[in-house]
Amino acid sequence: MVEKHVLITGGAGYIGSFLTGELLRDGYHVTVVDDLLYGGESLLAYLPNQRFHFVKADVWESRAIRNALRDDWATPQAVIHLAAIAGFPACQSVGRLVAWRYNVESTQHMFEQAEALDVERFIYLSTYSNYGLSADGGLVTEETSLNPQSLYAETKVASEGYLLAQASSSTCAPLIFRPVTLYGLSPRPRFDLIVNQFVLDAYRKRKLMIYQRGYSRSFVHIADAVHGIILGLQSPVEKIRGQVFNIGTPDGNLTKDQVVELILKRLPETFVNYKDITFGGDMRDITVSFEKIQQELGFTTKYSVDDGIREVLHALQDGLIREPDDPRYRNARFIVQ
Ligand SMILES: NC(=O)c1ccc[n+]([C@@H]2O[C@H](COP(=O)([O-])OP(=O)(O)OC[C@H]3O[C@@H](n4cnc5c(N)ncnc54)[C@H](O)[C@@H]3O)[C@@H](O)[C@H]2O)c1
Repeated sequence: MVEKHVLITGGAGYIGSFLTGELLRDGYHVTVVDDLLYGGESLLAYLPNQRFHFVKADVWESRAIRNALRDDWATPQAVIHLAAIAGFPACQSVGRLVAWRYNVESTQHMFEQAEALDVERFIYLSTYSNYGLSADGGLVTEETSLNPQSLYAETKVASEGYLLAQASSSTCAPLIFRPVTLYGLSPRPRFDLIVNQFVLDAYRKRKLMIYQRGYSRSFVHIADAVHGIILGLQSPVEKIRGQVFNIGTPDGNLTKDQVVELILKRLPETFVNYKDITFGGDMRDITVSFEKIQQELGFTTKYSVDDGIREVLHALQDGLIREPDDPRYRNARFIVQ
């Protein structure tokens, strides 16, 4: 019988495909359930691995987990639920009904199955978009009240509410992570994330258009974020049941202007335009506290935004990603920073 088995929904995506590789390397059996909205090339390298099992399915289906499990493997100890319509533009494109179905109802269906199957923990990837605009500019902690500014964040807040309401009575322990904006590359690169997108625009077009230059956002490298998720998987269950943790690092709390400055150091010929407009999108102007995850899970990071810029630029300059403008590297046709 297998000892360590994790089921990842959305495992073909940007975070999931990176996480799958890390868990396989760590000796886990990994089942991935994904509907392949952006393709499945990100998983190809794992197919020869006997500890990897892939099932194409829509996680909204009420038996998606049950149907994906192999008879000869033990029940997974954790479900890591990443499948979602990720990001404000993508949710806006599909509309409220579909976004709700994919992001909220699917979370409920996944948790119900995890509970029925006696899975020990359910790790949910929410987002720091839930904080929206901070009223006083102070540090936001996990206790700060949520102020979602977009349909995407509304669906994440609703899923969190559902999971937290189960925490005291369920046998399966829900754990919620609120990662900040990720950067860096993975087997499914995304160029609709602000740092990656800025590097691509500066490199290819030699120009950047920056909205709300003074707004503070927060950034974390994908490898560090995945390390945080694995800490959530390996920490004692009593430490994580019903808990919410921001994932990020104080060094990643930067204004857009500061990100641009870092890009200009590597691509000084870039022409930068600024516009201060407000739009009905995912406005975020906040500085995030990461004390809780540092103190309670011992989380530390290895990479800086500058490391991420260097990495993305290297991949572009050396032609490692042949057509970075291809739609498969974006979750929606339009991008909002
Ligand atoms: N990337 C970030 O910066 C970031 C930050 C905070 C939170 N998150 C959250 O982390 C999770 C993963 O993000 P990502 O960047 O890897 O996104 P992604 O879009 O790259 O991956 C999502 C994956 O989920 C799959 N999927 C979507 N709906 C599905 C369904 N109904 N059934 C089966 N599969 C489905 C897609 O095919 C895709 O492979 C999301 O929940 C996202 O909201 C991401």
